[in-house]
Amino acid sequence: MSKPVTPPDLSGRAAVVTGGGSGIGRALALALTDLGATVWVVGRRRSVLLETASLRSGQIHPFVGDVADAALAESLASTVAEATDGTLAVLVNNAGVLGPRAPLLDYPQEDFEEVFRVNVFGVSIVTRALLPLLLSEAPGSVVVNLSSGVGRVGRAQWGAYAASKFAVEGLTQVWADELRTSGVSVHALNPGATRTAMRAEAKPEEDPSTLPTPTDIVPSLLYLLSPEAAGPSRTGQSIDARDFMVTS
Ligand SMILES: NC(=O)c1ccc[n+]([C@@H]2O[C@H](COP(=O)([O-])OP(=O)(O)OC[C@H]3O[C@@H](n4cnc5c(N)ncnc54)[C@H](OP(=O)(O)O)[C@@H]3O)[C@@H](O)[C@H]2O)c1
Repeated sequence: MSKPVTPPDLSGRAAVVTGGGSGIGRALALALTDLGATVWVVGRRRSVLLETASLRSGQIHPFVGDVADAALAESLASTVAEATDGTLAVLVNNAGVLGPRAPLLDYPQEDFEEVFRVNVFGVSIVTRALLPLLLSEAPGSVVVNLSSGVGRVGRAQWGAYAASKFAVEGLTQVWADELRTSGVSVHALNPGATRTAMRAEAKPEEDPSTLPTPTDIVPSLLYLLSPEAAGPSRTGQSIDARDFMVTS
């Protein structure tokens, strides 16, 4: 299935991609600059953020920190607001951690809490901090939350990660309903198995060359940013990147 998409024009507009230093986040940040946006990439490792920024000099700004740190999120909001007169067109909540691949019975409590801290509270904290900017840009601003197949159907040994992605799907639906008439759309995006460090950690036995690359996720993002996915009756979608991949 490939839906017709009107390419969004983000010239002169701003975007934030958490976890934009690597993997899927980096590919989505680069795609947003191709649409004309200025992008802030957020993560804990300065080195990978700088690497992403160096790929689009002047169009990508690194912002170092932990997404679950509320003070960091407020400081991010201030930084973006100062540079943009208080507006933000796109927020991609992509940062995430896998946690151990272990049965729930043996799952260490501190790992459970860390996975929820980053994958759930991080999404909530960053969205709340940036919402005033998204509302200033509306109508037409968009939040995209990275979900997972195990955020819809639980599977053995995906532990807190699976539960955290169910929570991301839930947060997406609640935000979408609460913001239905605000002009801010909120969607969930399941990339599916993708050739990144996280996937290699989850499935070390798998041959990465058999998997789609982070760049293959871009068409699904373009759909979620397009007018076809906007508006009160279309917000709150939960889509699979596979349905939008360009097959050769
Ligand atoms: N790859 C797949 O097959 C797959 C499948 C389904 C869903 N997903 C989802 O897609 C998203 C991207 O995953 P990926 O595969 O691209 O993984 P990745 O390469 O490991 O990237 C994860 C990114 O999140 C950042 N991050 C982690 N914890 C953070 C924190 N506390 N604060 C700020 N940034 C943090 C990391 O940067 P730092 O370490 O520098 O902070 C890193 O840049 C995740 O939400 C993941 O759950 C991936």
